[in-house]
Amino acid sequence: MDQSFKTIIEPFRIHSVEPLRMTSESERAAAIEFAGFNLFNLHAQDVLIDLLTDSGTGAMSRDQWAAIQHGDESYAGSPSWFRFEAAVKEFFPFRHVIPTHQGRAAEKILFSTVGGAGRIVPNNTHFDTTRANVEASGAEARDLLIAEGHDASALHPFKGNMDLDALESLLKERRDDVPVVFLTITNNSGGGQPVSLGNIRSVSELCHHYDVPFFLDACRFAENAWFIHEREEGQSGRQIPDIVREIASLADGMTMSAKKDPFGNIGGWLAMNDDVLAEKCRNLLILTEGFPTYGGLAGRDLEALAQGLKEAVHPDYLRYRIRSTAYLGEALDKAGVPVVKPIGGHAVYIDAKTLLAHIPPLQYPGQALSVALYTVGGIRSVEIGTVMFGRQPDGSEKPAAMELVRLAIPRRTYTQSHVDYVIEVVTAVAKDAASLPGYRMTHEPPSLRHFTAQFEPL
Ligand SMILES: Cc1ncc(COP(=O)(O)O)c(C=O)c1O
Repeated sequence: MDQSFKTIIEPFRIHSVEPLRMTSESERAAAIEFAGFNLFNLHAQDVLIDLLTDSGTGAMSRDQWAAIQHGDESYAGSPSWFRFEAAVKEFFPFRHVIPTHQGRAAEKILFSTVGGAGRIVPNNTHFDTTRANVEASGAEARDLLIAEGHDASALHPFKGNMDLDALESLLKERRDDVPVVFLTITNNSGGGQPVSLGNIRSVSELCHHYDVPFFLDACRFAENAWFIHEREEGQSGRQIPDIVREIASLADGMTMSAKKDPFGNIGGWLAMNDDVLAEKCRNLLILTEGFPTYGGLAGRDLEALAQGLKEAVHPDYLRYRIRSTAYLGEALDKAGVPVVKPIGGHAVYIDAKTLLAHIPPLQYPGQALSVALYTVGGIRSVEIGTVMFGRQPDGSEKPAAMELVRLAIPRRTYTQSHVDYVIEVVTAVAKDAASLPGYRMTHEPPSLRHFTAQFEPL
């Protein structure tokens, strides 16, 4: 590609189209009230631009649809399984690959096996399902992110890095209580921020020094590798697959939601080198997900993922992917909307604590902003703040470290004009932010409350 042109285009053209349903503001006001002011409860047909998640929503490629035709649904030993396993091992050559229906199933199996009361699992930042699965086992989920990662405006190139001093002092004091150290690449709950190869190496060295297994939560491994390629000294000459393989070589295992970088509608896996742990995990897999050569997946899903993995590391795609997310973030920043900077890989995170400073954290400023973005412009986002993380294992409620609203960008789904529309809506809502009300929770489920809670405006 000729790099002399500054416009980075979508490296694909549209092959089949899906209509969007236009709605009026009054229809949306009624829909969100009916949904208990929880955007997860909306009918997707009532959403114009769906930025709730980048998970499972990526448009599949022509070659993925073609691969689906090769799907073999044999219960055991399907050729689709062997193609999937080979595609995973091409980048993540762990001895054991255990397929699951999505990331949280891999988490559930792993933490049911290694978690338990009195144990601590450190991570740069646990994603919500990861935290919930650690805590459901009785263990403590401890976030050890570098200080810059908590500061929405700190311009650090790798704000997803683990705080190495904090990790070392934890391992020094409590090594026997730490069954595994996790690192989430990129750091979804902390703004989609990458982790440097240097930091991954140091975490690996610390873990191996203290003889504790090191696992990756690697949903966005390709985006993280692209940031390493772009931002880390000495990495720009390397191929993305080589960077990915080096990352994998530093770890002892991984969990994966294949609904992210591998372009899956569904899927995930758990992988590791430890034979004894793998056997325990496979036994649980058979109990909850299925036979070890399909996990919870159809053969055609395994085929789509094997192909998707190849596409995920293509430099033209990654350049466009990271640039198009930055395009949205930079435009919002220019319009005076406070966003987490630098712009992350898969999403733009609006700093609702700053934008809606009149709403205290326990009245959920992020929820207030999400509801307004939907009502005004039909945009569905998600709160990543006190609604998601405020309830503590001891039953108390406390403000989350940050009050963010995430605009997640589904892969290869929306065009630049959709994004220009989002910029216009967010800017208009931000201008009027001081008039938005806080919220009160009227129904709260016992765990992962953000998915099904109900609210009312104050
Ligand atoms: C970092 C991270 N870990 C784990 C998960 C859980 O994956 P899944 O939604 O496939 O269960 C997600 C999903 O968004 C994630 O972003």
